[in-house]
Amino acid sequence: MNKISAVIIGASGYTGAELLRLLLVHPHVEIKALVADSNAGKEITDIYPHFAVTKLPKLLKLDEVDFKGIDVAFCCLPHATSQKIIKSLPKTVKVIDLAADFRIQDIALYEKWYGEHFAKDIQPEAVYGLTEIHREKIKKARIVACPGCYPTSILLPLLPLVAANAIDKDEIIADSKSGVTGAGRSLKQHLLFTEANEGVSAYSVTGHRHSAEVVEQLGTNFTFVPHLIPMNRGIISTIYVKLKTDLATARKALEDKYKNEPFVKVLANGAIPATHSVRGTNYCLINIFEGQKPGNATIVSVIDNLNKGSSGQAVQNMNIMFNLPETTGLLETAIFP
Ligand SMILES: NC(=O)c1ccc[n+]([C@@H]2O[C@H](COP(=O)([O-])OP(=O)(O)OC[C@H]3O[C@@H](n4cnc5c(N)ncnc54)[C@H](OP(=O)(O)O)[C@@H]3O)[C@@H](O)[C@H]2O)c1
Repeated sequence: MNKISAVIIGASGYTGAELLRLLLVHPHVEIKALVADSNAGKEITDIYPHFAVTKLPKLLKLDEVDFKGIDVAFCCLPHATSQKIIKSLPKTVKVIDLAADFRIQDIALYEKWYGEHFAKDIQPEAVYGLTEIHREKIKKARIVACPGCYPTSILLPLLPLVAANAIDKDEIIADSKSGVTGAGRSLKQHLLFTEANEGVSAYSVTGHRHSAEVVEQLGTNFTFVPHLIPMNRGIISTIYVKLKTDLATARKALEDKYKNEPFVKVLANGAIPATHSVRGTNYCLINIFEGQKPGNATIVSVIDNLNKGSSGQAVQNMNIMFNLPETTGLLETAIFP
């Protein structure tokens, strides 16, 4: 088969670099162009020397790219920038967006958290790219909006439980912790080594914008508090729920949903998911435990924010959009230790 011609827009950032790492070993993809902004004109190896073993195109400005013959553009851009750039791309190009811009169908809800939306006209074309839930719609979509990293770790365990009516959806508390790459590569004071290392901090305690997409997908409000922890990659979400069934029935709902899924695994009873087990992979590991209060349960879910939480899920969605086996290029095991 002809290779899929791909452009990575935002290739100099963390998710762009992870996408490049994944696509370079994908048997059906050819990288046609790498796009950046302040880093345009540089070689990608000037920023990431680990790509030195491969011959790659220079980083370009977007207007230097010829989109003739391009099949797919991965947009690894800050939110708001993403929608303006996607609106300007030829309609013949399929788009896989990693930013928040097209994740939320309710524009008022989007604007409450992110500010004005400048591409409302193409928003209805976008499908929420949580693969295991929206696979059929992703197959036919031109624009796929990959979920946020925190939402991926929260929605994968919760949606099957809500669908099975196994939990009270109005009593959900998610406590999530992310590694520092979750905030991207641009300079921010709180991400300096001295500020982030050897400490853990909660942030956005009264409300975080990632809750908007979770609320839309779950159809209810919930409590969500994110934390920054001093590791490079990984997210762990510990989720407290009130059961409407017994624990075994809730566990079975999760096991039934994911028994044939290549990337989402419900661990054996009692096994505790840890971020080390998913580092560098497209896996989400989940478990559900008896809660400390009668009638409650505690769920633990882990992903790699740069992989299942962004670039890995983006490749999984590309495989679906181009009728390839969904696991193509993605079946690696975790980097451990
Ligand atoms: N990091 C994560 O774990 C994660 C997970 C899920 C989703 N996301 C989302 O994915 C997106 C990218 O995140 P990231 O962490 O990769 O960010 P990042 O490291 O800050 O990278 C941003 C990239 O966008 C480029 N860029 C900015 N403005 C541009 C423009 N006008 N034209 C072309 N390129 C432009 C930057 O280029 P220069 O380097 O040249 O300035 C850089 O390559 C964000 O929307 C983020 O919310 C991130």
